[in-house]
Amino acid sequence: MKAIQVGLLGIGTVGSGTFNVLQRNQEEIKRRAGRGIEITMVADLDTERAQQIVGSGVKVVGDAREVLANPDIEIVIELIGGYGIARTLVMEAIAAGKHVVTANKALLAVHGTQIFQAAHDKGVMVAFEAAVAGGIPIIKALREGLTANRIQWIAGIINGTTNFILSEMRDKGLDFDVVLKEAQALGYAEADPTFDIEGVDAAHKATIMSAIAYGIPVQFDKAYVEGITKLSATDIRYAEQLGYRIKLLGITKRREGEGVELRVHPTLVPAKRLIANVEGAMNAVVVNGDAVGTTLYYGKGAGSEPTASAVIADLVDVTRLATSDPQHRVPHLAFQPGQMRDVSVLPM
Ligand code: HSE
Repeated sequence: MKAIQVGLLGIGTVGSGTFNVLQRNQEEIKRRAGRGIEITMVADLDTERAQQIVGSGVKVVGDAREVLANPDIEIVIELIGGYGIARTLVMEAIAAGKHVVTANKALLAVHGTQIFQAAHDKGVMVAFEAAVAGGIPIIKALREGLTANRIQWIAGIINGTTNFILSEMRDKGLDFDVVLKEAQALGYAEADPTFDIEGVDAAHKATIMSAIAYGIPVQFDKAYVEGITKLSATDIRYAEQLGYRIKLLGITKRREGEGVELRVHPTLVPAKRLIANVEGAMNAVVVNGDAVGTTLYYGKGAGSEPTASAVIADLVDVTRLATSDPQHRVPHLAFQPGQMRDVSVLPM
């Protein structure tokens, strides 16, 4: 079967990671998806830089609508970010019958209901694993692994930039502004870091998780949001002396008969707790379900290849579901002849 053709809108930190990982692991990804996955077209305002990243074999354009107009493209990856042009292009991609993979938490937290309604009407998929907690497959955990559960609460470190800032301020006694610049240089922070440091990015992600966990519409406007800008090194030191760490947590809780709590704020976490020891740009999400109890998910929440890992997981999912071969729709152990890998199992 011919590879599925993918168009990429925006080739920045995550976009280049996605391109590179797809190339590097193409054989493995093809085996798992049941079909090759190829980025054949890229749209970016900086066409010269984009062409350097993808090489001469991929068509690069300055106008994203050229990608949407290409009938061979079945999946569009939106990595532009924000609510502006990204929203217009996602809606146009859906209208053109393309499946969409996006890492855009801001867009989904605010306009998710409209976007998913449009996708439903058109019969296409919108996948967004990369929108929450970077490389941690938390959307799949909530939607698939924990699907039997009534989710009671979720609490998590879901913004790498602020966790990095808090860790560096505590460990190295560095000033807020210095560490923020470092986080930007490392590609963790949003283009406008206000969203990170004011807790907005974490609230976008908590909003998306609450919608999946409780089956409610996205309601970002109802969230209580407080960031870390008012915290000083002294606060962090005092917390430490009292046996606590300060973490910016996104929290969402079912309140029986009342509704759902949705909040982001700096929280004192006892230093002995696992989540208190999540350092740097790492993320961790704790989910409590009525059947499973408490579960913990930990990993890189930001950065080029960790986020690319989630984008590609969605590409594989969409490809599996779009292909007619049912074998690839669920995990399977049987391989097509010729796909078996010649690797021995070593005796213990
Ligand atoms: N700015 C985000 C963060 C990137 O720091 O977590 C990943 O969503």
